[in-house]
Amino acid sequence: MDGQEEKRRWKGPAKGVKAGKPGRSAGTHGDAATDFSIDDGARGIAPALGAGKRLKPSSRAWIERQLADPYVQKAQRDGYRSRAAYKFLEMDEEFRLITPETRLIDLGAAPGGWTQAAIRRGAREAAGVDLLPMIPIPGAALFLGDMLDPEIQAKLREALSGPPNLVVSDMAPNATGHARTDHLRIIALLEMAVEYATAELAPGGSFVGKVLQGGAEAGLLAALKRDFVAIRHFKPKASRSESAELYLVAQGFRGQR
Ligand SMILES: C[S@@+](CC[C@H](N)C(=O)[O-])C[C@H]1O[C@@H](n2cnc3c(N)ncnc32)[C@H](O)[C@@H]1O
Repeated sequence: MDGQEEKRRWKGPAKGVKAGKPGRSAGTHGDAATDFSIDDGARGIAPALGAGKRLKPSSRAWIERQLADPYVQKAQRDGYRSRAAYKFLEMDEEFRLITPETRLIDLGAAPGGWTQAAIRRGAREAAGVDLLPMIPIPGAALFLGDMLDPEIQAKLREALSGPPNLVVSDMAPNATGHARTDHLRIIALLEMAVEYATAELAPGGSFVGKVLQGGAEAGLLAALKRDFVAIRHFKPKASRSESAELYLVAQGFRGQR
């Protein structure tokens, strides 16, 4: 399904999902400019550079970088809501994550690029959650809330016809600008996502989570090695080279212990 078709088919917010502008603040989360809502972004930011607009130099530089970014342009052409979609597509190429049997849970899904990509690649079912509202994506059940909230977790479970065989987390906290604090927060989100995945995944399933340079902490890595057959770190080309982010891909879940 292409972006145009999605727009045509959108008849308003899904039940239980507040409509809102997607993901402006995705650009303010963690690795700020790596993810960015096309719907709320490139189309809307270009005029801000026009004559008479007063912008802080840092804002102007950010906008100029977004406009020059080939993945932002590609995402606009392809109808993806974020350039982040291409990171997921690269990981799918490399690790064959999506099959016609895939039941996906997307943690920190807004504005929705990864979920869109998974559905286009033929995932059977998809459910996503974010602290921020998302415009509905046909074929996916999207929830507004904290992935730690037991009620949200129950809704995610109910949205699928069986246990997920793919749990992905691109979750990132609001950046504080204090590098050590941001690092600790992102590691905490990864740990939460791993705990969630190992409680929910079907045997044989896979997990993808955002980490920072240096990879997962030793303790977490040891636990993952016990729970999964294969663990790899991966830096997609679409992830900016100056960004510390990379992804941990764990495959072959050994099942609940
Ligand atoms: C980098 S963005 C995700 C981009 C997304 N993968 C895409 O392709 O469009 C990270 C998201 O994680 C979300 N997030 C952070 N903590 C969360 C939590 N505890 N529960 C749910 N979402 C969370 C943020 O609100 C933010 O939208």
